[in-house]
Amino acid sequence: MNIQTRSGLGAFGRVPTPNPLVHSFVREAQALLKPDRVVWCDGSRVEYAALVQKLVDAGSAIRLNEELRPNSILVRSDPGDVARVEDRTFICSRSRDDAGPTNNWCDPAEMKATLTDLFDGAMAGRTMYVVPYSMGPIGSPIAGIGVMLTDSPYAVANMHIMTRVGSQVWDALGLSDDFVRGVHSVGAPLSSPTAPDVAWPCNTTKYISHFPETREIWSYGSGYGGNALLGKKCHALRIASVKARDEGWLAEHMLILKLTDPEGRVKHIAAAFPSACGKTNLAMLVPTMPGWKVETIGDDICWMKFGEDGRLYAINPETGFFGVAPGTNDNSNLNAMKTLHGNIIFSNVALTDDGDVWWEGMSTTPPAHLTDWRGSSWMPGCGRTAAHANARFTAPASQCPSIAPEWEDPQGVPIDAILFGGRRASTVPLVMEALSWAHGTFLGAIMASEKTAAAAGQVGELRRDPMAMLPFCGYHMADYFAHWLRVGRKGGDKMPKIFHVNWFRKNAAGKFMWPGYSDNSRVLKWIFERCDSRAPAVETAIGRLPAEGALDTQGMNIDPTDLKALTSVDTDGWKAEVPSIREHFAMFGAKLPPELDDELNALAQRLG
Ligand code: GTP
Ligand code: SPV
Ligand code: MN
Repeated sequence: MNIQTRSGLGAFGRVPTPNPLVHSFVREAQALLKPDRVVWCDGSRVEYAALVQKLVDAGSAIRLNEELRPNSILVRSDPGDVARVEDRTFICSRSRDDAGPTNNWCDPAEMKATLTDLFDGAMAGRTMYVVPYSMGPIGSPIAGIGVMLTDSPYAVANMHIMTRVGSQVWDALGLSDDFVRGVHSVGAPLSSPTAPDVAWPCNTTKYISHFPETREIWSYGSGYGGNALLGKKCHALRIASVKARDEGWLAEHMLILKLTDPEGRVKHIAAAFPSACGKTNLAMLVPTMPGWKVETIGDDICWMKFGEDGRLYAINPETGFFGVAPGTNDNSNLNAMKTLHGNIIFSNVALTDDGDVWWEGMSTTPPAHLTDWRGSSWMPGCGRTAAHANARFTAPASQCPSIAPEWEDPQGVPIDAILFGGRRASTVPLVMEALSWAHGTFLGAIMASEKTAAAAGQVGELRRDPMAMLPFCGYHMADYFAHWLRVGRKGGDKMPKIFHVNWFRKNAAGKFMWPGYSDNSRVLKWIFERCDSRAPAVETAIGRLPAEGALDTQGMNIDPTDLKALTSVDTDGWKAEVPSIREHFAMFGAKLPPELDDELNALAQRLG
């Protein structure tokens, strides 16, 4: 770590970057936030170790048993700071109309005034870290750079794993102005650097604010996940989606996987599912069918640009997984479990008596005694969960056994298929293929899913979540639909095929009809073969469904009635959807692209 003096020089006499724009950004923030000192991060292992030590010394982190979980820590957040806060997330574009009906909007000058008051002295007694990071391989034509200022060593440690932090970023940036400026404070100033601190400083007042036109992020009051790791949702989705619209590419909430068939043919698939709806699991899937192989490129975010051949090429802008812990086990996601062997930050999971971690679903029988995510003694049957439902692991992607060799290829990988999907207990079939790019855009635009614990609020409530981007699109959602249609016209017949999937359909007994997880490879196989128009499909009112017998269910133990329901059209259910889709579209008024209305009318007509 380089300690900055008042002159802005590194403590070791080295100026980390000559970029005057970076220096004025840091200087202005320093003057406002008034930290005790400023540290320029270099992204090194030594720096990571020092950050972890600082968290341990402060009582913010517990070192796990070195033999069971080497170089790993457990961090417990404040119980009021456990997930993204969508109602405190703002898109502060100059015009309200640019934020659209699905975002909270505030005038940028007004938001800056509010936050300037809150930021004033907010870092007193704390260290302000200057974190240069790259989203995507440094030097990749698809990548982007950010500079994050934060008073949270936990956030910096996470950024180390999740993004490419270090001096190479300054080199790549040079004197350019093309970087996202992020300011983050937990909003808990100290009277002096030695004053007593709490384990998880945060503030009950929270603002996650984005200024799309100036590519700025100001985040206040939270230390958790997407609120605080500014490279992730704030930069790579909300700001990047605006940049992507302006420049003609796509920044999406999608996993990326490489699928190889028994003959060695390869396809790359990107899939948008809402938060906690199965991206990490699908990205690391172990196929049940012999000869098939899934390799991981990314598990949450996908940036796609057109290559010289006119196809869409995708990179994973991240270098780590900030994954949902509960439900992760050797059967559901063996590759994730192996990834977690060491060098991990666990947040809000339970602690075992021998210094390891546990969460609901890690094993069928819980340990006889644990310390729960709030630090209290826990025993099975006590009526509380041991881990928080949104407990997470932060893990280096390079440790994943299924990571694809080309996951850091600066050129990206060519995308063959795009999947949309949500948690739908009824109506939506296991898989369908869109009839065209416009129809696929329509399927993405009408996506709906039950809410999960990844965001604060009511879990289980069904809501429309277009392209899994409802909480992440940095501009008017209808303009985003128009952008999708425009990109589709540009790519023409070189565009990926679009599919819609649903692993979460339930039967009358309330049980999932489809076993999911590894068996999802059967659906991937059909999709793979549809990309070459090989697998048989039937054209229905809602899209192309697998013809009878086309879905490989060999060796599977599935109720034939369930299988039938999963692969046929629930005409009554879809007829009931039509007015609800009309209502959803009505929200966008005149901005809704007419193509989407045409698709809706065509659907209604086909349903009869
Ligand atoms: P974020 O990190 O919030 O974006 O979540 P994600 O989309 O990566 O979701 P993840 O893969 O972590 O899965 C979330 C939850 O869904 C976990 O509890 C999984 O066990 C569960 N899940 C994942 N895939 C399946 C599936 O195929 N079937 C069923 N029934 N549950 C699944
Ligand atoms: C999500 O909610 O989609 C996540 C977790 O991936 S967070 O980083 O908190 O946004
Ligand atoms: Mn996510």
